[in-house]
Amino acid sequence: MSKSLITVEKETGVFHLHNNEISYILQVEDENVLSHIYFGKRISRYSNHKQYLRRDRGFSGNVPGQALREYSKDTLPQEFSSHGSMDYRIPASIIKRENGSNLHDFRYDSYQVVAGKPALEGLPAAYIEAEDEASTLIVTLKDRDQAIYLDLLYTIYRDRGVVARSTKVRNETGGKISIEKIASMQLDLTNSGRFTDVLSLPGAHVRERHVARETLTNGTKVFESRRGASSHHMNSFVALMGQDANEFSGEVMGMQFVYSGNHRFEIEKDQIDQLRVLVGINPYNFSWELTQGEAFQTPEVLLVYSDQGLNKMSDTYHCLLRERVARGEHRDQERPILVNNWEATYFDFTSKKIEQIVDEAADLGIEMFVLDDGWFGARTSDNSSLGDWFEFEGKLANGLKGIADYVHGKGLKFGLWFEPEMISIDSKLYQEHPDYLMQEPGRTPSSSRDQHLLDMGRKEVRENIQQQIESILDSVPIDYIKWDMNRSMSDAYSIALAPENQGETAHRYMLGVYELLENLTTKYSNILWEGCSGGGGRFDAGFLHYMPQSWASDNTDAVERLKIQYGTSIAYPISNSTAHVSAVPNHQTGRVTSLKTRGDVAMCGVFGYELDLTLLSEEEKVEIKEQITFYQAVRPLVQFGTFIRLASPFEGNTAAWMFVDEAKSEAMVFITRVLGEAQPLFHEVRLAGLEPETIYTDMETGETYAGDELMNLGVYFPDFYGDFQTKLIHLKKQ
Ligand code: DGJ
Repeated sequence: MSKSLITVEKETGVFHLHNNEISYILQVEDENVLSHIYFGKRISRYSNHKQYLRRDRGFSGNVPGQALREYSKDTLPQEFSSHGSMDYRIPASIIKRENGSNLHDFRYDSYQVVAGKPALEGLPAAYIEAEDEASTLIVTLKDRDQAIYLDLLYTIYRDRGVVARSTKVRNETGGKISIEKIASMQLDLTNSGRFTDVLSLPGAHVRERHVARETLTNGTKVFESRRGASSHHMNSFVALMGQDANEFSGEVMGMQFVYSGNHRFEIEKDQIDQLRVLVGINPYNFSWELTQGEAFQTPEVLLVYSDQGLNKMSDTYHCLLRERVARGEHRDQERPILVNNWEATYFDFTSKKIEQIVDEAADLGIEMFVLDDGWFGARTSDNSSLGDWFEFEGKLANGLKGIADYVHGKGLKFGLWFEPEMISIDSKLYQEHPDYLMQEPGRTPSSSRDQHLLDMGRKEVRENIQQQIESILDSVPIDYIKWDMNRSMSDAYSIALAPENQGETAHRYMLGVYELLENLTTKYSNILWEGCSGGGGRFDAGFLHYMPQSWASDNTDAVERLKIQYGTSIAYPISNSTAHVSAVPNHQTGRVTSLKTRGDVAMCGVFGYELDLTLLSEEEKVEIKEQITFYQAVRPLVQFGTFIRLASPFEGNTAAWMFVDEAKSEAMVFITRVLGEAQPLFHEVRLAGLEPETIYTDMETGETYAGDELMNLGVYFPDFYGDFQTKLIHLKKQ
């Protein structure tokens, strides 16, 4: 029998979740308050010596129901705090009852240990393939007076440094309750000296997921999205870091939210420098009503601990997201090298033009052609036709099927673009169903890119879109779909909901989108689905559950991509991150970089092209053929190998990272110097993750090196000349 992952000590009330890497310990304290004891590197045994120290703190009252002044919820580390019972730190929940009171005081009620990991109905989540892979502890708290229950779920995987957490609220009060805030996870850490810094991934459209690190000071720091999507602006991920933690050493704790809508991460450093971290659906514009007997399940948070810096944390996320969050036939398959016509033609294409691009693509060895925006309704610009998922009559001489057959006839796969959650005022769908548009009746809705959101919380809206998409998928042979979303949510109001339930609109939208994704991706499981939201505006673990890859950014500039791809790799696997070679001058920045530089950078992701292939010179064609052959050789390594960051583009003029396969018999190193330097420094980089005594051959030069030589002595950067220089070094075990 395999070793148990959860130890319960009834006399002391201690729950210890453990595997070979990590331990998570919680304890039922005096007065049945559920306290947090520890999360971090594995400990073999807990001797119950770290109970919270009692001390009278001025203006921090007693735990309600007992007289001891030294025992206060205001400073006690807890697993889930209560609002209104003398814990003045940020509350994990606010729940209103019919009398208007939002006071509660959650105490330990009961627990269960269940084998495996329960699915979270209607929500994306990490999963297991065999029951033995994980165990789940469910601790139930109950309000002191009212029959409001919280089930706190903790799943520990046997072979991963991760605990998955979520919360379920159950209403047994006999009346109604309204949830106004509910965290998926609370983590109270007693010693803030252990985690002094926080790393987040802020950005903007075409500048997604830049790395930001800052020191935590007293007060509350918030990272959030209020845009109805996980957003370009603040990714749904943060990590706590020790002061000296870096890519290779030190303690790091990552928190990744498996959700694609509004999120909020709150970190409070309290009066005695303890930390409280809360992660959950953003309480902004949120409420959820539960009648007697109803329950609300939050999305989950993936909590990862690393004692070897950021790289180890990232590797844990990469493996988990790739293997146990992403699903479907394409999860473990190498992804095709594609060419997308967006930056080649935008809306202005004909069958002839597409066929010319496809002819070139076939000659070059490209494996898939993707027809982007503009093939449907009467779409000639971004002003119309969203919601009309039928062919633009006359735009393609032989129709969509004609293009698909042409592409297949050339031996390529065929992919198509959709933006299913949107409606244009100028559309047939709007003429027939103006009420499908999300808005408050009588109030002019705010437009963005001339488009509006559909109220995806409504079943009839989803069904309409699903039927339209299915009729295309059933009549045209399609191998790939790009699922786009090109604006943020506004006018969050649903005509399907009563006035007091309007706060449910944004989350119901997300649940509706998830349902639609589940239906389509399971019915058309042969299709490779790619997420997109004006580039990387919904690049999150929730979407990854349905789509194993996502367009990282509309910014295809090779230099800007260094930061975007580096930042993205902190939390997401390379197999999730698509990267294309586009034309120069680059359409987003106007910068000119060489085809080599563009290729080298894009080959560090799921690779493709996005330029007019018919305009290439003969030399460029030769170079592209070489890029394709090279990428095909390293593709399993790049998409499924271990990724290691070596030098950050956020810290200087250089960057470096590498990929190593599981057997450590092959590696690819990427090196770049951004701007040319007179009297250049001798930049050098030490590799990592190799087998010390293995001899590796540089496949380009034939030179051989021992693994420990490359890792300890390192290598010089090439003597680069000029701006935007890159190099890929492909190493193989001799
Ligand atoms: C935004 C995407 O990120 C682009 O790649 C492209 O598909 C456009 N939308 C099309 O409207």
